[in-house]
Amino acid sequence: MLSDQDRIFTNLYGLHSPGLDAAKKRGAWDGTKFLLEMGRDWIIEEMKASGLRGRGGAGFPTGLKWSFMPKKSDGRPHYLVVNADESEPGTCKDREIMRHDPHLLIEGCLLASFSMGAHACYVYIRGEYVAEKYALQRAVDEAYEARLVGQDNVHGYPFDIYVHHGAGAYICGEETALIESLEGKKGMPRLKPPFPANMGLYGCPTTVNNVESIAVAGTILRRGGAWFAGLGGKNNTGTKLFCVSGHVNKPGNVEEELGITFRELIDKHCGGMRGGWENLLCSIPGGSSVPLVPAEQIIDAKMDFDTLRGLGSGLGTAAVIVLDKSTDIVAAIARISYFYKHESCGQCTPCREGTGWMWRVMLRMAEGRAQRREIDMLLDVTKQIEGHTICALGDAAAWPIQGLIRHFRPEIERRIDRYSANPHSDPLPMAAE
Ligand SMILES: Cc1cc2nc3c(=O)[nH]c(=O)nc-3n(C[C@H](O)[C@H](O)[C@H](O)COP(=O)(O)O)c2cc1C
Ligand code: SF4
Repeated sequence: MLSDQDRIFTNLYGLHSPGLDAAKKRGAWDGTKFLLEMGRDWIIEEMKASGLRGRGGAGFPTGLKWSFMPKKSDGRPHYLVVNADESEPGTCKDREIMRHDPHLLIEGCLLASFSMGAHACYVYIRGEYVAEKYALQRAVDEAYEARLVGQDNVHGYPFDIYVHHGAGAYICGEETALIESLEGKKGMPRLKPPFPANMGLYGCPTTVNNVESIAVAGTILRRGGAWFAGLGGKNNTGTKLFCVSGHVNKPGNVEEELGITFRELIDKHCGGMRGGWENLLCSIPGGSSVPLVPAEQIIDAKMDFDTLRGLGSGLGTAAVIVLDKSTDIVAAIARISYFYKHESCGQCTPCREGTGWMWRVMLRMAEGRAQRREIDMLLDVTKQIEGHTICALGDAAAWPIQGLIRHFRPEIERRIDRYSANPHSDPLPMAAE
């Protein structure tokens, strides 16, 4: 288990004040000026040495991403954009940072912006996060009052931070759609290249990072990249906020070392599996977009990027959804399909048409009102969507169905056989309908 002294988010549960004085006592804003004086290159090298991989889902190395920003400005301003859209179902960690430890985020914004030559940072918050917006804005105001940020701040690096409230659309979490939305346009992903580091917000060099990726930066720099790299395993370093939901006795968020096993995570932090381990059906370990992993494969698996990828799934946002044997797994995946259909921005034909098509077939599969040959047809359609769209929402819609067919094909077939033996016309009750 992660020892208390290695915890970054010491107010994750809001037991203490989120205010500036309390945050300082917990370590935020300690020696920030000294860290800035170490220079841009030092910050980026320490972040690289820490091995931190982006906490927004894709796991891209953070230090490397920062190093992609132009070293010198060609006259255009540079921007840092913090992705606080947090809409991946199951994910509820960034909101706790903004509510309870917002100064870690604000300090991280200053440090990250400085290392990339950005003098302005935008935090794009999900539309539904109203309390979080106010909490973060309060902390930003405090930081301005204390002259920790602003044009004439005690750190000697002019820096402004803006909290921008979105209108509530999952697709605005995709980094280029988020940039479009910030610019006041419809949140629709852009084709890449050009990548944001060259042509991002208002056509200027921009880096987009997840809230957690930025909020851990101050502690990493204070304690050293080597400290962070010493936690977790090779290529999967550091601590991570896990959001555990579903059929466990005590769902919740917890900061743990990457690489903790699924069993330990649930037993030590979530009061164990509802009905005991025998009752585990499967888990969706990284937010709704990653393929499910059946009980026997997940139970002793390490919860890190590489292990879960090896199991044909992913760590994603570390939103661990636990499903017990009472779950109607085909209906559950059908419900997820409905979500992706609903959230498709409609720009690309495979995603716009395919997500609706997959959802309708999934609804019939959940009922059994299908033919066995349609299972392979559905799988084939997921393959035609995956990798053939502008953004990864297409993949996110395809993967849960691929995971279902890979691991629960007999269950789909059983329903089809049952229905064909006794056809009936009662539609399956679905929350989405
Ligand atoms: C459809 C879609 C939704 C996304 N939603 C989020 C989100 O809510 N929050 C987030 O941090 N990243 C989200 N991402 C990933 C971002 O595009 C981007 O990779 C991330 O913000 C980079 O931050 P990181 O390098 O710190 O992980 C989403 C991606 C896609 C394709
Ligand atoms: S994949 Fe879907 S959400 Fe992404 S750009 Fe294409 S239509 Fe829009």
